[in-house]
Amino acid sequence: MPGVVIIGTQWGDEGKGKVTDLLAEGATTIVRFQGGNNAGHTIVRGEEEFKFHLIPSGILHPGKTCVIGNGVVLDPRVLWEEIVGLRRRGVDIAKLRISANAHLIMPYHVLLDTAGEAKLGKLSIGTTRRGIGPCYADKASRLGIRVQDLLDEKILRTKIMAALEPKQQALRELSVRRRKLRREAAQKEVEEAADPRLDLHAMTEEYVTYGHRLEPHIADTARLCWEALDAGETVIFEGAQATMLDLDHGTYPFVTSSNPVAGAACVGAGVGPGDIDEVWGVVKAYQTRVGAGPFPTELDDEVGRRMVERGHEFGTTTGRERRTGWIDLVALRYAVRLNRIDSLVVTKLDILAGVDPLRLAVRYRSSEGAVFEEFPYHQSILHSASAEYEDLPGFEADLGDCRTEADLPPQARDYLRFISDFVGVPIRMVGVGPEREQVVWMGEKPALRAA
Ligand code: IMP
Repeated sequence: MPGVVIIGTQWGDEGKGKVTDLLAEGATTIVRFQGGNNAGHTIVRGEEEFKFHLIPSGILHPGKTCVIGNGVVLDPRVLWEEIVGLRRRGVDIAKLRISANAHLIMPYHVLLDTAGEAKLGKLSIGTTRRGIGPCYADKASRLGIRVQDLLDEKILRTKIMAALEPKQQALRELSVRRRKLRREAAQKEVEEAADPRLDLHAMTEEYVTYGHRLEPHIADTARLCWEALDAGETVIFEGAQATMLDLDHGTYPFVTSSNPVAGAACVGAGVGPGDIDEVWGVVKAYQTRVGAGPFPTELDDEVGRRMVERGHEFGTTTGRERRTGWIDLVALRYAVRLNRIDSLVVTKLDILAGVDPLRLAVRYRSSEGAVFEEFPYHQSILHSASAEYEDLPGFEADLGDCRTEADLPPQARDYLRFISDFVGVPIRMVGVGPEREQVVWMGEKPALRAA
């Protein structure tokens, strides 16, 4: 099983980082294939806590090659901070490789993200405001700036110049529209024209400096993946965000601007579909979402608040409190089909201790009374749909010390079995606490070949 994709099945924050960290033990190469520093995950190692936004968490395993693939959008300032932070803590980053084809998040992308959200007002998406959408938009418009451009100052300056002019205009228009008084608008225009973040020369110089710093890590990362796969080594393709935030298949427009589904691993890393041998889907034992958009199983009660508190449901990237709800098996079955998931990992089962009954959404009902067994394609239905549930008895015990399936209380096992039967995929691993060793392998631990 050399090519393994790990993806999220909900709206992100399922705990993919921990799963990657555990499976990385048996791999030589770990590749991020989409998204940017809108992602964030925390890895707990004994007393130490590591927060990652861009670098694959496999970097904590000495000797593993960690790749930021061509499908990622990369803010070099954030990457550099991450590198410096890791070095300070003694983590060797010599085997970090960055695709020369990855696109760069520029200061104007961040400004546009914020201004665009402000303009949308009540209709805003609730983005992380990290410039992700505007950067992918530039990529598609062929106005993007890539990592390889950092290595040639003349080209970099020319490309920034071409990209900058329409951005300044767009920002000016956005700010003008937001101002009621003409005088205020004029004032803002002056301020923005002078914004040091939008100065061509300063920007070029700053990015050239990042180019010098990152140069030893810039590579043809697709080739690197091929070589590892050809040698029969295990390569892990680590997804960020999740299926329901997918630009094509998620709850559009309340989605991210990339494709977090498994198929995107091929495009975002530069490998073929035949190189993918297994797809692992990660699902939290309940449901969470940050940002706006439909959420049929959302809770606004004591149980939901308990999930926030016990599950520490606050974003790693923005610190925002996550919305919480019951696990949604209609959406999970949809994610299983979209990604052709072979194995499921259920995370944070321990958080549900003391909740009784445990509710699992098995169908939706529209406001007109129509029943949906499958995920509806029409967004309006999803917005007004209510979920219908199967109720199972809860469990009281703290699961933190469970290490085998037999250690789990029967109610917890029944809950897992119901999920697995409903979607038709085996659950291979269950998370029972934040620590690395707080997992239950259901059946055999997979044998991955590290070299
Ligand atoms: P963007 O990716 O910053 O453009 O945000 C678009 C939507 O995706 C917003 O609802 C964000 O809250 C959500 N989002 C982006 N990244 C993550 C993530 O890593 N976890 C959960 N939600 C995310």
